[in-house]
Amino acid sequence: MDNYIKDRFSVASAASLSVGEDDKYRFTAADLVRGRYGDKTPLAYVHTYGCQGNVSDSEYLKGMLRDAGFGFCSSPVDADLVLFNTCAVREHAQDRVFGNIGALKPLKEKNRSLIIIVCGCMTQQPGVVEKISKSYDFVDIVFGTGVMKKFYGFLCRALSGHKVRETAGPGSTVEEGVPTFRDRDFKVWLPVMYGCDNFCSYCIVPYVRGRERSREPERVLEDARSLVSSGAKDITLLGQNVNSYGKGLDCGVGFPELLSRVCAVEGDFRVRFMTSHPKDCSTALLESMASNPKAAKHLHLPVQSGSNRILRLMNRGYDRERYLSLIREARSMMPDLSITSDIIVGFPGETEEDFQDTLSLVEEVGFTSLYTFIYSPRSGTRAAKMPDPVTHEEKAERMKRLCSLQESIARSRSVTYVGKRFRVLAEKWSGGRIEGRAEGNYIISFAGDESEIGSYTDVEVTSAGNYTLEGKAV
Ligand code: 5AD
Ligand code: SF4
Repeated sequence: MDNYIKDRFSVASAASLSVGEDDKYRFTAADLVRGRYGDKTPLAYVHTYGCQGNVSDSEYLKGMLRDAGFGFCSSPVDADLVLFNTCAVREHAQDRVFGNIGALKPLKEKNRSLIIIVCGCMTQQPGVVEKISKSYDFVDIVFGTGVMKKFYGFLCRALSGHKVRETAGPGSTVEEGVPTFRDRDFKVWLPVMYGCDNFCSYCIVPYVRGRERSREPERVLEDARSLVSSGAKDITLLGQNVNSYGKGLDCGVGFPELLSRVCAVEGDFRVRFMTSHPKDCSTALLESMASNPKAAKHLHLPVQSGSNRILRLMNRGYDRERYLSLIREARSMMPDLSITSDIIVGFPGETEEDFQDTLSLVEEVGFTSLYTFIYSPRSGTRAAKMPDPVTHEEKAERMKRLCSLQESIARSRSVTYVGKRFRVLAEKWSGGRIEGRAEGNYIISFAGDESEIGSYTDVEVTSAGNYTLEGKAV
């Protein structure tokens, strides 16, 4: 198996390490790890489901594992510890997690000292901890999103042979002073806020992640500076709804100002952000994007539906006209702006007419790309109680139509890029070709050397597929 042990510890986190209440367990965890494994470096396999927020949480958890003495491996078969950081947004993701937990049972039977951990959004839902304890009792630690900082303590308990089940209170604190381990230094996620107050009627996030909490701007900036000094070229500021950043802080800094301040950090890098909510995407934010050359001209603005009736039922707080006028305003300030979006197909009671409104909005905006989802009922949300007469087959059929419309839009847009030049950040290399992303988040591949990973190259597009462009370095 292709094993690797990484021994990097990001400067950002090292700088902000502080010893708090829960950190006292950090040293005990390291002692217990040494006691159990001696000179051997034990390996952890960490699998992250779901959104970038979870990816970012896993970076904290990996930082803590790294501090306790673990290295990392790429398969559970080689692991001394397996951690699943789970997602609850759609049922399908949750089913996959249960399937994958079940698949760990034979590993645990072969190796009784294997530590199995399940954490994240899924565990915050009623009944999930009980289900794990009943049907998957070989899982050692189950913990929720609000108690991440106790992770060292949980490790200590598991290393001493005890089970842990703790999911109290979704996300009550802002995570500060937690070590971080990143798989790559050049493209990074930087959380600016946690939680969500919007309660879109289909969404489980406010229930499992709790209320909005913003990090102090100075902490975000400290991290941005040290990330840039350790090689960051593409920073994504993260939050469920970054436009309401600053609520509850008394420093008066909102997201447009935070974006400008991060862009003002010295260095050659780009800044993106996700996710923006159309309801409070302001002119000030668009101005901040337009006036800062380091702010990528890429806006991810989830519309969810093009039907005003469905938007109302979704509790989105804007209508189709408001969304389209925002797009017009943004494009008038940034003519090359690349816009991407999320759409839910088959919300309860969505009629063919409602769906047609979505198709016409997609056509009118001309998104660069779309993340499309078939509605998945989440127990405890308002939409889960709404009548839903449309069959799954009909929803799947609508999904197909939406995807084929988007493909044709993407195809006709892509051909207009042939002959144009883009500054591409090289992200992956395989068989003599590099795959990277341009400012607008377009994927471009070109011939190059592995050593170029993490640096910028000017590339001229030579041919265009639906979602990827081919080019040559110029
Ligand atoms: N069903 C389907 N898609 C959902 N999303 C959120 N909740 C659901 C759900 N219950 C989608 C939304 C959101 C994205 C992250 O996931 O489009 O923007
Ligand atoms: Fe969910 Fe809406 Fe909050 Fe996004 S804004 S996390 S869709 S409730």
